[in-house]
Amino acid sequence: AGHPLRRRADGMSQLPSAARRIAHHLNAVVRGDSLASGESDPAVVPSPLFSQRALVSSLDQYREMYRRSIEDPAGFWSEIATQFYWKETWDPEVYAENIDVRKGAVSIEWFKGAKTNICYNAVDRNVEGRDGGKVALYWEGNEPGLDGRLTYSELLDRVCQLANYLKHVGVGKGDAVVIYLPMLMELPIAMLACARIGAVHSVVFAGFSAESLTQRIADCRPKVVLTCNAVQRGSKTIFLKDIVDTALGECAKDGVHVGLCLTYENLSAMKRDDTKWQEGRDVWWQDVVPNFPTKCEVEWVDAEDPLFLLYTSGSTGKPKGVLHTTGGYMVYTATTFKYAFDYKPTDIYWCTADCGWITGHSYITYGPLLNGATVVVYEGAPNYPDPGRSWDIVDKYKVTIFYTAPTLIRSLMRDGDDYVTRYSRKSLRVLGSVGEPINPSAWRWFFNVVGDSRCPISDTWWQTETGGIMITPLPGAWPQKPGSATFPFFGVQPVIVDEKGNELEGECSGYLCIKKSWPGAFRTLYGDHERYETTYFKPFAGYYFSGDGCRRDKDGYHWLTGRVDDVINVSGHRIGTAEVESALVSHAQCAEAAVVGVEHEVKGQGIYAFVTLVEGVPYSEELRKSLILTVRNQIGAFAAPDKIHWAPGLPKTRSGKIMRRILRKIASRQLNELGDTSTLSDPTVVDQLIALSDH
Ligand code: WTA
Repeated sequence: AGHPLRRRADGMSQLPSAARRIAHHLNAVVRGDSLASGESDPAVVPSPLFSQRALVSSLDQYREMYRRSIEDPAGFWSEIATQFYWKETWDPEVYAENIDVRKGAVSIEWFKGAKTNICYNAVDRNVEGRDGGKVALYWEGNEPGLDGRLTYSELLDRVCQLANYLKHVGVGKGDAVVIYLPMLMELPIAMLACARIGAVHSVVFAGFSAESLTQRIADCRPKVVLTCNAVQRGSKTIFLKDIVDTALGECAKDGVHVGLCLTYENLSAMKRDDTKWQEGRDVWWQDVVPNFPTKCEVEWVDAEDPLFLLYTSGSTGKPKGVLHTTGGYMVYTATTFKYAFDYKPTDIYWCTADCGWITGHSYITYGPLLNGATVVVYEGAPNYPDPGRSWDIVDKYKVTIFYTAPTLIRSLMRDGDDYVTRYSRKSLRVLGSVGEPINPSAWRWFFNVVGDSRCPISDTWWQTETGGIMITPLPGAWPQKPGSATFPFFGVQPVIVDEKGNELEGECSGYLCIKKSWPGAFRTLYGDHERYETTYFKPFAGYYFSGDGCRRDKDGYHWLTGRVDDVINVSGHRIGTAEVESALVSHAQCAEAAVVGVEHEVKGQGIYAFVTLVEGVPYSEELRKSLILTVRNQIGAFAAPDKIHWAPGLPKTRSGKIMRRILRKIASRQLNELGDTSTLSDPTVVDQLIALSDH
């Protein structure tokens, strides 16, 4: 009964709920261009030339390294860790963990006692030991033609100036700093400046609304918020500073006062004179930061000191503050970056994610810079001003490694091959995918059209919580199956368990869990260690539970099948159905709401909301729009429902639980698969819902 998955049961059949849920997910993907059908595709064998030059050239070489990483994690990881600079070394244990709730509190520590600094390792070390003149960041603006660049030495100067400023205004070790910035170079600079002085950054994706920002500021109570006045995204201007103003106003009402808002003047979007200003609180970045020295002492922190907080969605309304620490995260992101993309010092790397999400943290800022890589930071939308923009950028910077999300691939695929083939793309060497399962037809298009059948695809499975890539092909090392993330990264032990938590062997499908910790694992949920244990370690005692379903085929390849909890994945963005529901019910005319995910051609999943109105309120187009607007305002545009389905009532059990299984079937129009509806307190609501399907 204490099983969290079981508690969410909708009580419709005799099968345990978790098993049904996974069955639902597996069914959902078996249709049409399914993930599961990818197995019938011939495996794609890497070219011998690529393999020869790859860091890991064969399955055998991988197996040998993997075996060592599992048998001797301390030896494996400490050997890698010594490539970084540590002011003091760990002592004596490399790691200590308890992930088994039955044995007491969950705790994970790597390199504890060691002193280091991730900013030093990502920037200074590349200036001192290598080539400070190497380009660290290329910046490409929203408008073609607008660009910039920073070498490692210049990056160091910028980071130090901001770090000095932050120190000057009283930010110190352990203090939180909220960063609400678009993809300007100032965003990675801000992250690194915080890390340099031991401050804990909490980046909030600049697509989040004022309410979401308020929630995050109130939770971590930063001394400073870093933002810019506005940003141009595609053809739209977004006034970020206004959003921050609203959020800070709301926070103040709750007694959370942030005394300083450092605002970057983003001239390409808005002039400072047009920006609303609160004297005493607001400061222009350009007026102060450049006046500070370009040298700033590094704050040496413990490997287990917090590096950042990043809020992510779970199955309840309140976002979770995922906390990552310094040493293990540093070693893990650097190592995964290097191997998952077969990184070579001559590579030019571009990841289309935003630093507001974990992908940007680990694979725009930290992982690549720790390797001394040259990184492209792009401000705009990958299909602006037209669907060829991505390939224009690839050619312009001679990008060799391109890392993106299936949703973009599907959308570009729909726009036609011409936009791709008119660009050379000959620099491309390795492609990557992240954020959601990639369906085989999108995989093949990415491989054949974008990569000219030449570039291996790293389909990387991981999560905000895991810090870095967990299951992925290593380019060139083994044959790929379109749609499969293939095998675990070094040190990662994925297991597939059944409903009761039994490990399944051989060909199987079930819940994806991880046995044993890995260096990049999150250490807690900020301020709520109990929720950390309950959500991730209690569902299957002895394991970390990912929330994803997974199948393993006869060759041992892993096929991720999507979330098995109430989290949906829209264009690679994680959204809790409960968050959308609570936004909807905050609307004065909404009595009740139930949100489910439905298959969406481009976004992967779309948001489908069943809404019951307050007694006497008529359905109208205007109301539909205003409900959608409410969600946009409360969470962000990316969480806007694709469909509002009027619901005179919702299907509930006699004990009042909403039966989402039925709602999912109605939403996906699988009306002959509704199953047993006899346990509903009022079975007629189902017919009413079906009748209203097209309204
Ligand atoms: C999904 C993003 C299949 C998965 C890094 C996971 C994937 C959630 C893949 C985490 C992949 C991510 N194949 N599914 N290659 N990558 N996912 O925290 O459901 O934003 O649980 O981290 O995205 O999303 P998050």
